[in-house]
Amino acid sequence: MKREFMKILEHTSIANDTYRLLLEGEMVQDIVDPGQFVHVQISDDFYLRRPVSICDYNRSEGTMTLLYKVMGKGTDALTKKEAGGFLDVLGPGGQGFPLPGDEQTHALLIGGGIGVPPLYNLAKQLNDKGIRVTSVLGFQTKADAFLIEEFESFGEVYVSTNDGTLGTKGFVTDVLSQLESVHDTYYACGPTVMLKAVMDQLEEVPGYISMEERMGCGIGACFACVIESRDDKGYKRICCDGPVFDAKEVVLS
Ligand SMILES: Cc1cc2nc3c(=O)[nH]c(=O)nc-3n(C[C@H](O)[C@H](O)[C@H](O)COP(=O)(O)OP(=O)(O)OC[C@H]3O[C@@H](n4cnc5c(N)ncnc54)[C@H](O)[C@@H]3O)c2cc1C
Ligand code: FES
Repeated sequence: MKREFMKILEHTSIANDTYRLLLEGEMVQDIVDPGQFVHVQISDDFYLRRPVSICDYNRSEGTMTLLYKVMGKGTDALTKKEAGGFLDVLGPGGQGFPLPGDEQTHALLIGGGIGVPPLYNLAKQLNDKGIRVTSVLGFQTKADAFLIEEFESFGEVYVSTNDGTLGTKGFVTDVLSQLESVHDTYYACGPTVMLKAVMDQLEEVPGYISMEERMGCGIGACFACVIESRDDKGYKRICCDGPVFDAKEVVLS
């Protein structure tokens, strides 16, 4: 991981309390997998950095896209950063989504709310490999929805909203129960309660989940981000062993 003051090329609102940052810098060349994250220093007023997934990146242009939702004081202060300024970023961090081998042909992507962004570059890379992509995107309400057209350019997209203002009324799991099971791998990111429900529902399918739980140091030193695992140690750190895990390796409670 390296620290860099990345130039903010664009900073725009894309949905209810949701913003898109387009950043430029050398760090883009170090991104290995879709699903990695950066650790953002908001300002001196905030001791801890805030983790944000890399939504997309373009190596030849040296740019990366972050999408974030205002959740509290840190992300609210982030909205005040202006294009033309710089953002203090540490990254890229963590282990991202492994791309499937030649035997896999159909991937199911499941994103909940602000868990949707890290799936975007994954969808792009799967599509480039000729793998069929089906996406199930869940939001609280229509005003919160984003990236739907972008995901449609890679394959079929199903949307759910809690209040039924867009797509199926309910949760992503309500959509999953109506889908024909022809996918051979799944990739999911969203709140832990959603990930647990998805893991239970797709128990028979090989899958990967990305955790967006709270972090401290972001570099493996503080153990603020541990989750239960089935390996010898009995735990894994989201910041460095994840945020992406094989669904069979971890236990969500
Ligand atoms: C690996 C990883 C990737 C992430 N990627 C993104 C992303 O792409 N876009 C995005 O908008 N957010 C992402 N998050 C979540 C983001 O880091 C938090 O929303 C942010 O740190 C909240 O900071 P805050 O100061 O605004 O809120 P705080 O004031 O710290 O908290 C406000 C509220 O949000 C809750 N909260 C704080 N952190 C989290 C969290 N990590 N998950 C769920 N609830 C939280 C708190 O419990 C509290 O209720 C990611 C988190 C991780 C660990
Ligand atoms: S956040 Fe400190 S060990 Fe993961």
